Amino acid sequence: MPLSVVILAAGQGQRMHSDLPKVLQPLGGKTLLEHVLHTAATLKPSAIHVVYGHGGDQVPAALRQPQVQWVLQAEQLGTGHALMQALPAIPDDHTVLVLYGDVPLVRAGTLRKLVDSALRGELAVLTARVAEPAGYGRMLRDAEGQVQRIVEHKDASAEQRGINEINTGLMACGAGLLRGWLAQLRNHNAQKEYYLTDVIAMAAAEGVLVDGVVAAEESEVAGINDREQLAAAETALRQRLAEELMQRGVMLRDPARIDVRGELSCGRDVCIDINCVFEGEVKLGHRVRIGPNAVIRDCEIGDDTEVFAHSVLEGASIGARVRIGPFARIRPQSQLADEVHIGNFVEVKKSKLGRNSKANHLAYLGDAEIGSEVNVGAGTITCNYDGVNKHRTVIGDGAFIGSNTALVAPVTVGPGATIGAGSVITRDAPAGQLSIARARQETVPGWKRPRKKT
Ligand code: UD1
Ligand code: CA
Repeated sequence: MPLSVVILAAGQGQRMHSDLPKVLQPLGGKTLLEHVLHTAATLKPSAIHVVYGHGGDQVPAALRQPQVQWVLQAEQLGTGHALMQALPAIPDDHTVLVLYGDVPLVRAGTLRKLVDSALRGELAVLTARVAEPAGYGRMLRDAEGQVQRIVEHKDASAEQRGINEINTGLMACGAGLLRGWLAQLRNHNAQKEYYLTDVIAMAAAEGVLVDGVVAAEESEVAGINDREQLAAAETALRQRLAEELMQRGVMLRDPARIDVRGELSCGRDVCIDINCVFEGEVKLGHRVRIGPNAVIRDCEIGDDTEVFAHSVLEGASIGARVRIGPFARIRPQSQLADEVHIGNFVEVKKSKLGRNSKANHLAYLGDAEIGSEVNVGAGTITCNYDGVNKHRTVIGDGAFIGSNTALVAPVTVGPGATIGAGSVITRDAPAGQLSIARARQETVPGWKRPRKKT
């Protein structure tokens, strides 16, 4: 049976006190809605409908997901009304899986269970037992444990509020059945809304089995309504990703102190020290070691490379057995070949360094093409910017750049050339020779220090 996913995302999220629609709030480097979309996509549905409304076109504009069918709910009259907007586009023979844009951490396996039960002709609803049920709809079961209906917190009696099995809002059911029930929804309740949850009682009354699937972990089904819940979800997601990394063999010095805001893939025996942040897509080879407080975004790092403490790497491709930092900064479009050493307070931008080249202290290498076996002395900088345009510096294999050299680009240093310390190189330096460009040292005979006038 084909599967149609409907994600309800039209609500305002008043309790966030934010100008951003709630489903666009960030969680682990993605929006809440992107998390839901990503999980939904793993079920390979034939369509994903997203019901949007509050915030207008902000939500579709922020996502630009070509596979999504956007459904406008102009007025937010409740979750049942929201689903009604999407249903006309879904044929009767589809299974409908309803997800909430503000329940981002649900797992694909849990959703599978819901879909499977819908395929058996049942109405599946995901529930959870929670310590603090306040605010959620409560599951009312009969003496046999059969789900009878859901009562919203605002409509619940004191006794019903004592029930700690809550409705997560997520459900699955045949489209034909849902269509019939939604047509009968009324808004006679505390919030004057068309509650999707009322279809549970309709199903039970018609003898359709209601399968209350209890979620394995509470964090999976947590709805995010305010900033505290958003922060709690961030912690839960962080924990989940840390556990996954450890299960795949990564050594984390402290699983509570790593942030993965994107995709991190690791080879064998990778070791990550505390407080590291990984963003975008990061690939670490075998036995890579990352020191404390490193920030790494969109990088590929080869086997046995070590990144020392406090280094920031972005958009770089880094070879094997490379050593970077401590306190190094590698900026986008940089390529470091195998065995390169980048030391403390060295910034590399849009530059290539060949095999076994070294810049061990205090340097700026921007728009440079540096061969292999090059030694860049401390304090060396490429003057790549003339105030208007950027220019390239080329340094041949085996060159030795003396400390505190300014390479005024465009300029080329030939292979095997040596540059004397403190030089300002404005013209090409020939291969294999010593070039020096600084005032010569002299000693002034008879010079005396000035004296204070009395
Ligand atoms: C809903 C459930 C409640 C459940 C809780 C779980 C109903 C009536 N209640 O309550 O039983 O315990 O979720 O988190 O369903 N939305 C729309 N259009 C609307 C209203 C809501 O698209 O007109 C969307 C929201 O953007 C959100 C989701 O539906 O993603 C849930 O809406 P929300 O107002 O947060 O429902 P709750 O009061 O939390
Ligand atoms: Ca909610």
